[in-house]
Amino acid sequence: MFNSCSSKSKLSTVNERVDTLLTQMTLEEKIGQMNQYSSFWDVTGPAPKEGSAAVQFEQLKNGLVGSMLNVHGVENVYKLQKIAVEETRLGIPLIFGFDVIHGYKTITPIPLAEAASWDLEAIELSAKNAALEASAAGINWTFAPMVDVSRDARWGRVMEGGGEDPYLGSKIAFARVKGFQGDDLSNPSTIAACAKHFAGYGFTESGKEYNSVDVGTQTLYNVIMPPFKATIDAGVRTFMNSFSQLNGVPATGSKFLQRDILKRDWNFDGFVVSDWGSIEEMVEHGYAKDEKEAAQLAVEAGSDMDMQSLSYVENLADLVKSGIVDEKLIDDAARRILRVKFELGLFDDPYKYCDLSRESKILGNQNLHNASLDMAKKSIVLLKNQNQLLPLKKQGLNIALIGDLANDKTSPLGNWILAAEKNSAVSVLEGLKSYSGNNVEFSVGTKLNTGALEFAKELKINTTDKSDFAAALKLARTSDVVVMVLGEHGLQSGEGRSRTNIGLPGLQQELLEAVYNINKNIVLVLNNGRPLVLNWANKHIPAIVEAWQLGSQSGNAIAQVLYGDYNPSGKLPMTFPRSVGQVPIYYNYKSTGRPTLPSPGEVFWTHYQDEENTPLYPFGYGLSYTTFGYKNLKIQSQTDTSIKVSVEVTNTGNLEGKEVVQLYVKDHFARPAQAVRNLKGFELINLKPGETKTVQFLLTEKELGFYNNNGDFTLQSGEFSAFVGGDSTADLSTNFSL
Ligand code: NOJ
Repeated sequence: MFNSCSSKSKLSTVNERVDTLLTQMTLEEKIGQMNQYSSFWDVTGPAPKEGSAAVQFEQLKNGLVGSMLNVHGVENVYKLQKIAVEETRLGIPLIFGFDVIHGYKTITPIPLAEAASWDLEAIELSAKNAALEASAAGINWTFAPMVDVSRDARWGRVMEGGGEDPYLGSKIAFARVKGFQGDDLSNPSTIAACAKHFAGYGFTESGKEYNSVDVGTQTLYNVIMPPFKATIDAGVRTFMNSFSQLNGVPATGSKFLQRDILKRDWNFDGFVVSDWGSIEEMVEHGYAKDEKEAAQLAVEAGSDMDMQSLSYVENLADLVKSGIVDEKLIDDAARRILRVKFELGLFDDPYKYCDLSRESKILGNQNLHNASLDMAKKSIVLLKNQNQLLPLKKQGLNIALIGDLANDKTSPLGNWILAAEKNSAVSVLEGLKSYSGNNVEFSVGTKLNTGALEFAKELKINTTDKSDFAAALKLARTSDVVVMVLGEHGLQSGEGRSRTNIGLPGLQQELLEAVYNINKNIVLVLNNGRPLVLNWANKHIPAIVEAWQLGSQSGNAIAQVLYGDYNPSGKLPMTFPRSVGQVPIYYNYKSTGRPTLPSPGEVFWTHYQDEENTPLYPFGYGLSYTTFGYKNLKIQSQTDTSIKVSVEVTNTGNLEGKEVVQLYVKDHFARPAQAVRNLKGFELINLKPGETKTVQFLLTEKELGFYNNNGDFTLQSGEFSAFVGGDSTADLSTNFSL
């Protein structure tokens, strides 16, 4: 991050200022910097007089709070910052964190959807815009990007990450950090990013939320770690640890993760925040005997800031005074936190994010909506298009639009919408009507959920009420085309939302089959935050469009794709299984000793009795309204440790389109053995009909090597194959040896 001369001197000035400040601080004030509270009272009302809010308010005034989360909006941030700056002894400003996960007020596609674009520039811009908007609302720190690789569609939080692959995940992680932080953290349009959840959370056992994680060194070093390392390379200033245990040690109490890997091997000089209450949760984990010991273990392990468990503020001073915890650990944590505050420029101007006129100019403005629409279109994946049912004509069609989600203006916003207005997304109904002269009639078909929508409450899915079926079937009977918008509600994925049945929830599958019996001309538009099991739909429905949860401009993006104003180019960042029993299923698995059927009917090979080994849709898969051909895969040049390959890609259809050209490498023999193939390069190219482009990939030590079981990076000589194509089953190949 700091590599020019002026940056170096800036850094030493920051460090000097931090050190000077530290000498003036009492032990309690230093611990105060390590204490973070969630918004504990309505700041526009009177100051709290009783209960825990009153205690926390006193602590704030006494300089015992270093950061707040969930306080947002210039007016609120300003009031709290004023207390920190004007009423505490040293006037140290607060840092304000917020979950800006897919936009702030203007909502962008959920991160898994953005990952489907494979468009790193667009992803970086999306994070940059989120930072612009959030910073205008007083926020200077986001708890993003989440870079947890996950292979388990049951886990609700896959919506929040970059998918199943460490290579794609690393590129996206890098782009997101750059987008949030820019090149200058003191610029008021940028905010500090936070790589989370360090580490292993995405491998939560059986996809069940907050469950334990048990992984071996190969998965840890080659799959889980690379995206985190990429955020370091991008200069990320904070990390968040995880709720989960990794191999028996809660991540929050893990010295191995936080001190050895992050702070020693990776030289990270920013700070680590715990996850919400995760310090005291080490007691429930059966790791610490009480909250005091949890505080000790967490600080020793390198957790610098306590999010909301109060364990530090209540115990650390005693632990230091009784000689159990070395004060140097407190100094180190406080120094890291203060350094980031200095870098943000908060000591020079604590109110720099508190400009009301900037807030009113930026929040929800048209530029942000235009960018969100662009990102949304790029995130859509065309899964099936039999007989070129899509794109639809813009005139003369009677379209039946069916499904509760088609007329929903909240669900498309997705899960992390703390600052967005409910009911503010463009629905598919609105989008389809405004982009054509067709006659679009809506019928709900079946209510997806019943009862109120609350972020922290279980969503009730309708499994009994079919009273809306009849009207939808009647409409379908007289229509030329039926567009059905089905899938998960935005609050069915995200934290605390694991599922074991990952088909269409509620009565939607039954509705789909009933409509199909009447009119087979169906375009199925999916809204979901995770891969779904779609076997029946894939077999019967002629056109399927994966539209995830696309944010504020959802309906416009979907309409533009259905009408062909935008030619879809997304590719799946996660494998779609045929059955939940296949999960975890991913393309870069390791071969067993018996990978192939020896002779018909034999049982002694790696397979299921009742399901195929292959997924329904593989990683990297996605169609276009045009087609692409690959040929002439060649080795251009080679050294001892690198190789350059090239391939010709031609648009063989009649429409201009974009293709994600993907390169996979197989290392035939390695110790430890490596996956059957790994993504090692990709390029998004645009081709006119008939146009051919030559795409080159350079494979260096970085792409051809891997981490061994000691965590050392190694490049081994041997036989390799390179595969190039439009998804992870690509079979155009060439061999080389190193
Ligand atoms: C818990 C989540 O795990 C984390 O990702 C989030 O940033 C915090 N809550 C704060 O909301």
